[in-house]
Amino acid sequence: MKNQVLEIRNLRKSYGSLLALDDFSLQVNKGEVFGILGPNGSGKTTTLGILLDIIKPDSGQYAWFGARPFSNQRARIGALLEQPLFYPYLSAVKNLEIIADIKNVAYGEIDELLEKVGLTGRKHSKFKTYSLGMKQRLAIAASLIGKPEVLILDEPTNGLDPRSIAEIRELIIDIASRGITVLLASHLLDEVQKICSHVAILDRGKLLHTGRVDEVLNSSPMLELQADDMRALHLALQHSGVVDEIVSEGPIWLVRMNKETGPAEVNKMLTQQGIYLTHLAQRHKSLEKHFLELVAENHA
Ligand SMILES: Nc1ncnc2c1ncn2[C@@H]1O[C@H](COP(=O)(O)OP(=O)(O)O)[C@@H](O)[C@H]1O
Ligand SMILES: [Mg+2]
Repeated sequence: MKNQVLEIRNLRKSYGSLLALDDFSLQVNKGEVFGILGPNGSGKTTTLGILLDIIKPDSGQYAWFGARPFSNQRARIGALLEQPLFYPYLSAVKNLEIIADIKNVAYGEIDELLEKVGLTGRKHSKFKTYSLGMKQRLAIAASLIGKPEVLILDEPTNGLDPRSIAEIRELIIDIASRGITVLLASHLLDEVQKICSHVAILDRGKLLHTGRVDEVLNSSPMLELQADDMRALHLALQHSGVVDEIVSEGPIWLVRMNKETGPAEVNKMLTQQGIYLTHLAQRHKSLEKHFLELVAENHA
C-alpha cells in the first residue's frame, strides 16, 4: 500500500524471563497521528526502540516505507526518545547547528524551526537558562532537522507543567497538520484523545485494540433523556422498537439506541406521542472507559 509508512509484524521481545512485547503487529499510514497508549511498563518504549534499531527484537519484523534495511530510511524519521543531550553553555541556535552537522544538513532550516517551536525570541540564550517546556520544544525542533516525514515521540509531555503540556500538544498538532506522520507513545489517555487520530492500546506487551480514536469514542453513544413525565417517557421508549437498553441514572434515563437511530429521530418520535423532552444529550463512551475495560479484561 503506497500510503503505508510503517508495518510491524509479530514483534516479540523479552528481557530475561519478562516478555515485554508479545506478538505485536501494527500498521501506520501517511498523515496519521498514531498513539501507542498503555500503562507504564506495557512495552511502548521497547517498541519505539526496536523501530529505531536501538533494540533488537527476538523475532518479528518491521518495515518503514515498505523498505529495508532501516539504515536506508533513517533520514526520513525524526525521533525524540529520552531527553536529548544539549550543551548547557551553548545557545539554542548553536546546539541545533551541531545536530545539523551530525545529520549532515545545511543550517538553512534552523531559524524556521525555532520559529515553529516558539523559541525565536530566546534563540541566542544558553540552553541551561531554558525552562523545561522550552527545552522540550527545542528537542522537538532538533528532531525535525532534516525535514523528516515521520516524527516519533516518547511521552513528550512527561514532567512538564500544565501550560507547557498544552504548548507541546498544540505544537504536535501543528506539526501533524503539515503532513508529518506522528507516532507517539503515551500513558496519558487525554493526551492521546486530544492529539491522535489513531490509537493502539498496549498492555503487558499485548495489543488490545487498534483503530481510529473517533471510532473508539463513538463505539456506543448513549442518550440522556429527561421529560416532565418520566414514566410516560419510559413507556414510549420501551415500545419504540429502537431502544437496546434503558438505564435509570438519577433523574435521567440513559438510553442506548440501535445503530440507525439518532437523537433527532428520538425527539421527533417522542414529540409525536405528546412527550416533550426537557433534556436531551449525547454521551460518548470515553477512551478512558474503553481503555480501562480492555485492560481489566486482559488482567482477568
Ligand atoms: N533494559 C531492560 N532490561 C530489563 N527489563 C526491561 C528493560 N527495558 C524495559 N524492561 C521492562 O520491559 C517492560 C516494558 O518496558 P517499556 O518498554 O519501557 O514500557 P513503557 O515504555 O510502556 O513504560 C517493563 O516491564 C520494563 O520493566
Ligand atoms: Mg516508556
